[in-house]
Amino acid sequence: MFTIITGAQFGDEGKGKIVDMMACEYDVVARFQGGDNAGHTVVAEGKTYKLHLIPSGVLFGARLLIGPGTVMNPGILMEELAMLSENGVEVPPSRLGIDAKTSIIMPYHVALDGLRESKRAVKIGTTNRGIGFAYVDKVGREEIQMADIADRIRFLQKLDEIAPLKENAIKEMGGDPKIARSEVQEYLKIGQRLKPYITDVSKEINQALKEGKKVLAEGAQGTHLDIIHGTQKFVTSSSTVAGSACAALGVGPTKVNEVLGVVKAYITRVGEGPLPTEQKNETGEHLREKGGEFGTTTGRPRRCGWFDMPLAQKAINLNGYTSMALTKLDVLSGLDPVKLCTGYELDGKKLDYMPELSHDVARCKPIYVDIPGWHEDISNTEDFTDLPENAREYVQKLEDLMGVKIKYISVGPGRKQTFMK
Ligand code: GDP
Ligand code: IMO
Ligand code: MG
Repeated sequence: MFTIITGAQFGDEGKGKIVDMMACEYDVVARFQGGDNAGHTVVAEGKTYKLHLIPSGVLFGARLLIGPGTVMNPGILMEELAMLSENGVEVPPSRLGIDAKTSIIMPYHVALDGLRESKRAVKIGTTNRGIGFAYVDKVGREEIQMADIADRIRFLQKLDEIAPLKENAIKEMGGDPKIARSEVQEYLKIGQRLKPYITDVSKEINQALKEGKKVLAEGAQGTHLDIIHGTQKFVTSSSTVAGSACAALGVGPTKVNEVLGVVKAYITRVGEGPLPTEQKNETGEHLREKGGEFGTTTGRPRRCGWFDMPLAQKAINLNGYTSMALTKLDVLSGLDPVKLCTGYELDGKKLDYMPELSHDVARCKPIYVDIPGWHEDISNTEDFTDLPENAREYVQKLEDLMGVKIKYISVGPGRKQTFMK
C-alpha cells in the first residue's frame, strides 16, 4: 500500500497533523522533497512538535526515511534529533534512514539565498534556508551529498573543487567569501554521526511494498509552490506535486494506491506571490488570529483569504487526488457569511479554473458565493452529523464543487480533533 500526501494550496495546510494521525497505520513514512523550509506541526498529548526534516510519523513506530530528492541541512537535523530526544523520543538509525544521495545544504547556500533575496527588486520572500541554491547545485551537478560528508577525503576533495566558485559568487553579491569554506569540521563531525543512518531509500521502500507493508510519502510545501506548475517566480525550488513522490523516492507510478490532498477550509500564503482571495481586513485578521497563522519556520504572519475553488481544481488535476483532508474548519466559526470563491473574472471573462501564468492569477478578481456562517465552537465535534447545519452545508458544497471525496475533517490542532466525513 503506497499513499502520497501533498498540500493542495500554498503550504501549511496541516500536513504534519494529518501525517501524524495516519502514521499509526503505516510501516514507513518518507519525505521526498524540500528541506527545512518545511515546518510541520504535530500536537500530541499536550506537546507541540515543529518538524522541519524528520517525517511527521516520528511519534509512532514507523520507519522514517529522508529521500534523495530532499535538501538537508545537517545542523538542523541534529537540532531536531536533540529536540525529540529532550522530549523522550529517540531516533536511532533503526528508526531513521537518510539516502546516501540526499543533497546537503552548505553554509554557502544559506548565505547566497540571503544575499540574492536582499538584491531582488521583486522579492520571493524565501525562508532563507538555502533551499533554492542547494537545488541549483543539484541540477548543476555540483552538489555535496549525504555520503560525501560521511567520508572525510571525498568531502574535502569536492569542497576544494566547489569552494572557489562559491567564493566568487558570494563576493560578487557583496558577501564574505570565507563562508564558502566555513563549518567544515562541524560538517565532518555530523557526517560521522549520521553515517549509520545512510541507506538506499528506493530499495527500502520497494522491499517494504513487496512485503505488503504500508508506505506513506509526506509532501512538503504545497501544490502551487511547485517549481514546474506553481505561481513562478513565487515558488519553492522543488516539485511538490504527488507525481514527484514517485520520481524522488524511486518508486514506480504503478505502485501508488492513494493520493490524499490536504486543504484548509480557507487559504493562506506566506511570502510573496498572487493570492486572489486574500483578505487584508477584519476577515483576514480573524483567520490569522484564530487560525494561529504565523509561519512555523520563520514566524512571519501568513496572508489569509477565503477558500479558492479554481485553485483547488488545478491542484486536483496536478495531483490526481483520490480523497481530501479538510483542515481548520473550526477557524471559520464566527464568520458570517462564509464566502467561497467559485470562479474569477479576468479581462471581462469568467473563469472557473486557475490561469496558467502567475501574472494572470495576480489580475484575477474572485467571484464569491455566500454561505450562511455558524457561531458555535466546533473544536470538540466528533462526528460530521454533530456539526452545525451551516458548517455541514459548507463542507458539502466544497466536496461537490471539488468533485473529490472529503475523507477527513479536522477541527483543531490536536490528534483527537479529526473525524471521518
Ligand atoms: P503543514 O506545514 O502543512 O504541516 O502545516 P503547519 O504545521 O505549518 O501549519 C498548520 C497549523 O495549524 C499548525 O499550527 C497546526 O497545529 C494547526 N492545525 C492543523 N489542523 C488544524 C485544525 O483543524 N484546526 C486548527 N485550529 N489548527 C490546526
Ligand atoms: P510547509 O511544508 C509555506 C514558501 C516561502 C516562499 C517560497 C520560497 O510547512 O508547508 P524557499 O525558502 O522554499 O525558497 O521559499 O516558498 N515556502 C513555504 N510556504 N509552507 C512551507 O512549507 C513553505 N516552504 C517554502 O515562504 O514564499
Ligand atoms: Mg508548515
